[in-house]
Amino acid sequence: MLELRGILNFLKVVQNTRKANIPLAKPIFSKEMEKAAVNALWNERFVLGESVYKFEEEFAKYCGVDFAVSTNSGTDALQIALTALGITRGQDVITSPASFIASSNVILHVGAAPIFADIDLETYTIDPQKIRQAVGRKTKAVIPVHLYGYPADMDPVNEIADKHGLYVVEDACQAHGAFYKGRKVGTLGEVACFSFYPSKNMTVAGDGGMLVTNDEKVANTAAKLRDCGRKSKYVHDLVGYTARLNTVNAAIGRVQLRHLDEWNEKRRKNAQIYDRLLADLDELILPPRGDNETRPVYHLYVIRTRHRDSLKEWLESNGIQYGIHYTLPIHLQPIYKKMYGFEEGMYPRSEELCRTCLSIPMYPDLAVSEIDFVSEKIHEFFETR
Ligand SMILES: Cc1ncc(COP(=O)(O)O)c(C=O)c1O
Repeated sequence: MLELRGILNFLKVVQNTRKANIPLAKPIFSKEMEKAAVNALWNERFVLGESVYKFEEEFAKYCGVDFAVSTNSGTDALQIALTALGITRGQDVITSPASFIASSNVILHVGAAPIFADIDLETYTIDPQKIRQAVGRKTKAVIPVHLYGYPADMDPVNEIADKHGLYVVEDACQAHGAFYKGRKVGTLGEVACFSFYPSKNMTVAGDGGMLVTNDEKVANTAAKLRDCGRKSKYVHDLVGYTARLNTVNAAIGRVQLRHLDEWNEKRRKNAQIYDRLLADLDELILPPRGDNETRPVYHLYVIRTRHRDSLKEWLESNGIQYGIHYTLPIHLQPIYKKMYGFEEGMYPRSEELCRTCLSIPMYPDLAVSEIDFVSEKIHEFFETR
């Protein structure tokens, strides 16, 4: 009996000292996707082949909107959306400083100026009250970001937009398939934009993006803008871009889209396990959970702690990959400080998020044993402090 206990203790020590190798994210590529890609390469035009239009049709249907226009990145989808809505020089667009820099860069790319509204620290998405305070004479649009896959509080955002005549462009680049009060992300503003970058909830195995809308005029303009401003083959009635999604990527995207709901459900289940295993740690702030109607898709599982920097090193030393989304809020990025004179303290909640956030492994095929291991290591970290 004693011997057995000794062996069990030994196994436990071995288990606890073994170094894992758990990535932060794991893009999925399967034989089914390979087959679709090869098929498209042999049988379709490389550019604007049949798969591109089919992918657009299917993505529009998935979101529950009338039109979808694919692009070669989420950034291009956002920029084209703003251009198609007529946003231009001399105008202001409000967005959140707690996002990937592209959410704001696109405003600059169309010649407008970014105005930041700080986030709500419960959801990490734009605080409608801060939008109210930021709206000015030149404000023409607002870009709420569904950060980490959690939907922004769209009802008050739309109410403010209606009152001031602003366009609402959802930055849904991290939120494919999420729901806000029972409505799907992508249907909550004039336009919504998605990214298919490899780490996203669905990818096209490369760069890619999609713009969705119910506005036919915006959709037609966007389709021209992404294709050199073409009206017909050799006639251009807009100054457009070469921003098309390649056929082979669209073919892969079509297969990925068929799996998206199943993958999102797996992410939600994984998040529930983390939520349960980490709930007793007072030092840790866990992600917002939503409810039956507001359903995040956990593009990232982001925990917060003031011990973030030592915790990240501890995880890394145990073979657990982490991410920081993001190390700096957009207003404190060197180029924004230089261009606009932004300073620390201007958007304190976004700054607080960036100081304390830590993304831990999250992807559909993350095993329960891996979630156990990560959670155990996080417990160990706080026990030894
Ligand atoms: C919130 C957000 N907006 C915009 C983008 C830009 O998308 P892409 O990388 O496809 O250009 C991303 C992608 O990282 C994002 O996460």
